[in-house]
Amino acid sequence: MLYRGDGMETLALISQKGGCGKSTLAVHMAVCAAMYGQRVAIIDVDPQGSAFAWNEIREPGRKFDAIHATVTELPGLLRKAEAAGTGLTIIDTAPHTNKDPPAVAQLADFVLIPARPAFFDLKAMAATVIALHMTKTPRAVVLNAAPHGYRLVDEARANLQKAGVTVLPEPIHQYAALGHAVTGGLSIHEFAPDSPAAAEIEGLYKALAGYLDLRTTLPKPAARRAAS
Ligand SMILES: Nc1ncnc2c1ncn2[C@@H]1O[C@H](COP(=O)(O)OP(=O)(O)OP(=O)(O)O)[C@@H](O)[C@H]1O
Ligand SMILES: [Mg+2]
Repeated sequence: MLYRGDGMETLALISQKGGCGKSTLAVHMAVCAAMYGQRVAIIDVDPQGSAFAWNEIREPGRKFDAIHATVTELPGLLRKAEAAGTGLTIIDTAPHTNKDPPAVAQLADFVLIPARPAFFDLKAMAATVIALHMTKTPRAVVLNAAPHGYRLVDEARANLQKAGVTVLPEPIHQYAALGHAVTGGLSIHEFAPDSPAAAEIEGLYKALAGYLDLRTTLPKPAARRAAS
């Protein structure tokens, strides 16, 4: 193990399948953790730099500590983030790379693998599960962009579980609002806080709190004002 901080939690979003929702869920988990009063850093090791670009277009008072970096820079950056008092660092990663997933996973406390519940996606995602097999880092799949009203989610979950893959109980459904929010440098909680999409995103954050030491009670109003 190269480095794993004790005072800071590190969540990595990993899948070799492109477009499964890594960046979307990464930035949403960042906003959820901040809502619950945690200091959050984003490290974007995808050359596309999606999560970093999202942070760049956020309003000045709402920006996260974010950096666009390479995987080799990660150990040093994680050390710095922890020294700065960060509670949660979120690492967004690139698709289509065989070497990044295990290298990033061994630096993380938990790996979230988004996967669309569709045949081609699940087949492609298997490569990620295999690539992560040698790392001991706990991990789970979240079924993302799931269409409403089809049995695809149940079937995908059953097939993955049969293959020994941990799948979070609740999917994130397909919501155009998630894309709208991100396009504006926002999260769904800032764009449509009372929407079903916001509730599902918060549910995902709380599911992650079952694996990572994350705050799940809202800070007192005075503390929230000071943090905003
Ligand atoms: N739950 C969802 N509902 C609707 N659209 C979604 C959802 N999740 C992601 N998307 C959309 O899917 C597209 C790909 O998402 P995103 O960029 O987050 O995936 P990614 O895994 O980071 O992609 P890449 O592998 O290229 O980095 C975006 O247009 C995004 O808005
Ligand atoms: Mg991405």
